[in-house]
Amino acid sequence: MKLLLRNIKELLQVREEAPLKVAGTAMKELPSISNAWLLIENDIISDFGAMATLPKISADKTIDCTGKIVLPSWCDSHTHLVYAGNREQEFVDRINGLSYQEIAEKGGGILNSAKKLQETSEDSLYAQSAARLEEVMRLGTGAIEIKSGYGLTTQAELKMLRVAKRLGENYPVAIKTTFLGAHAVPAAYKGDKEGYLNLIISEMLPKVAAEKLVDYVDIFCEEGYFSVEDTHTLLSAANGYGLIPKIHVNQFNAIGGVQAGVAHDALSVDHLEVVTNDDVAVLKNSNTMPVALPSCSYFLSIPYTPGRKLIDAGLPLALATDYNPGSTPSGNMNFVVATACIKMKLTPEEAINAATINGAYAMGLSHSHGSITKGKSASVIITKEIPSYNYLPYAFGSNCIDKVIANGEILE
Ligand code: NIG
Ligand code: FE
Repeated sequence: MKLLLRNIKELLQVREEAPLKVAGTAMKELPSISNAWLLIENDIISDFGAMATLPKISADKTIDCTGKIVLPSWCDSHTHLVYAGNREQEFVDRINGLSYQEIAEKGGGILNSAKKLQETSEDSLYAQSAARLEEVMRLGTGAIEIKSGYGLTTQAELKMLRVAKRLGENYPVAIKTTFLGAHAVPAAYKGDKEGYLNLIISEMLPKVAAEKLVDYVDIFCEEGYFSVEDTHTLLSAANGYGLIPKIHVNQFNAIGGVQAGVAHDALSVDHLEVVTNDDVAVLKNSNTMPVALPSCSYFLSIPYTPGRKLIDAGLPLALATDYNPGSTPSGNMNFVVATACIKMKLTPEEAINAATINGAYAMGLSHSHGSITKGKSASVIITKEIPSYNYLPYAFGSNCIDKVIANGEILE
């Protein structure tokens, strides 16, 4: 099956030799071709160029992209998309004055979602999660990471991860999975965090590894959740199963999670609403990608990750949604890109790099996603007719997407 896109007003993020990630001033560059064509063969980008160079191609289908921009699909490297029910009552409680932390202390928050998930069948969990995945795919997400962490029992964690795996088998989207058993201490282990960590290490980790359910390991390293010491203990144990860390750090407090992540060669450290100079220095000498989640800051009214500071220090930055029922009930990467420009003062070029090539890096998918490169997955967004790519973050409340091509499949 040959699919030809022609008369593309601008083909964005074109990389002949794709870098693994882009950092610092290089994030300001978004290589592109004006008046371009793109050839897709089955599920792969096979060729592209300027219209003046278009060879004779007998395509099975041609899409005229006059006035439209084409870019690689969003790479959302941090989500909790598999969950049961919602938490709109907590949203109202916060409007009425309770804080996110106060709600969690009352047994709401993550434990509320864990209770719901434990009571939900695997098939119902699959159906609820599939509906969310279909929605975000239509919003342009072509690769996504999904975490466990709303199970908090061995059976419920396995249920979440099996659902995530099944989604990856059934949809034309790349899915990476992460084991986040250490998301919160469940009610059954109240006052016995050590006991729960023990359960994670001696029972959950061996089982998720034996079933080959996960690519990465995560922990919520935060006051009131898991300490830096817990983080070292868990990440060392996970290393024994070949699991690379991608961890939640510095959402509310900088307690040393960044340093712990870098010490274990984490692929990414995520949240970073609070960043110290020492965090920046440690990240500078690492392969670890900092990941900002601006929709979470928006929804909880907490500080935005100082993305400008990180990029100006020469670091790379990735953007992701954090899609989850408590702190970010939205999987819309278009909103993330716009919010990063509006609130974090990223330029559109920086935000698009952060949401494509750097997002791909943050889930180990740089070889197949995140840029228009021959041989990569044919996962692209075709916009509506828009004046320029700056319009994408500018028109933050509009749906600027005309079509999505998901691993070679056209989603109208
Ligand atoms: O990334 N911070 C920890 N975990 C999630 C939200 C958890 C919840 O409220 O359900 C996050 O924001
Ligand atoms: Fe998260």
